[in-house]
Amino acid sequence: MITEIGTDVEKAAAILKAGGLVAIPTETVYGLAANALDPIAVAKIFAAKNRPSFDPLIIHLAESSQVSEYVSGNVEKLLEIGNKFWPGPVTLLLPKRENIPDIVTSGLDKVAVRIPRHPLTHALLASVPFPLAAPSANPFGYVSPTTAQHVYDQLAGKVDYILDGGAATVGVESTIVGMEGLDLVVYRKGGLPIESLQTSFEGTVRINDFSESNPSAPGMLKKHYSPGKRVVLLENLPADANSDNTALLRFKSPIVGYKHQYVLSESGSLEEAAARLFMGLRTLDTLPVHTVAIEFVPELGLGLAINDRLRRTLAEE
Ligand code: TXA
Ligand code: MG
Repeated sequence: MITEIGTDVEKAAAILKAGGLVAIPTETVYGLAANALDPIAVAKIFAAKNRPSFDPLIIHLAESSQVSEYVSGNVEKLLEIGNKFWPGPVTLLLPKRENIPDIVTSGLDKVAVRIPRHPLTHALLASVPFPLAAPSANPFGYVSPTTAQHVYDQLAGKVDYILDGGAATVGVESTIVGMEGLDLVVYRKGGLPIESLQTSFEGTVRINDFSESNPSAPGMLKKHYSPGKRVVLLENLPADANSDNTALLRFKSPIVGYKHQYVLSESGSLEEAAARLFMGLRTLDTLPVHTVAIEFVPELGLGLAINDRLRRTLAEE
């Protein structure tokens, strides 16, 4: 298969209608999309990503008016969050209808739903008569792509078309939320800050991150964002690490003397840091060093999602 990169929405729609795979730009990260109602097309996503097991996928829609075609039950309270922040970086876990194939939800009775905010992907979603199932468009175990080129570098030959919508503006995956009783529960910290949820939800907002001990989300493995190098905390630099063999991922300011470093945001903006995070990890991965030393960013706003991804780069196998 030859993978093409372009901005032709009609071509992308034709490929999806024929059961093919298209990488799509969103404000969070690029997704690897297929017709969510076609189990064979969805199976191709797992093959292309080389996922060792099926892991539930988010379905993407053009408009919130379509949500009721795919979900049922008493979902009003949770949908208020969608109606407030969609199109945008938040995903809702809602009780699924039968038209959503089991391969999309890994047999779970809830489906993850999101309306992404990107003009090209909105046009694409509006031009196909089905939702798009799409995980992040990276091979299993690698950081999510934030540009079309990232997707090409890792999935060329495995995806029919890459819709090029430029660099992702948010840069970390969506915040995933659901309801447990009357509480709003955050299962993945992401592009919508917790503070935004807290100010707009009347009731308790709890955090219950996906983890290996939390099998309701089999895919959210603890170690999920690892570059190919040894990753350590800058404050725990091992004795064999030095300014020649170690690259730094810094929040605001470089450290004098280190040749290899990547600064996330010189102005100290967490939004900019999130948008540049995965690009930074990829860049460090290509440098001639054996160790990458990272530091955490302030634990507020998008800092929670950034630090979550950074912690995953550190996790032991
Ligand atoms: O920003 C995003 O969310 C991107 C863009 C492309 O929309 N998508 C994304 O998908 O990050 P993915 O598959 O890489 O991560 C989705 C996470 C997975 O960890 C999966 O286990 C969880 O959502 N998930 C999906 N459906 C679920 C369900 N029905 N119940 C529990 N967890 C679910
Ligand atoms: Mg992913």
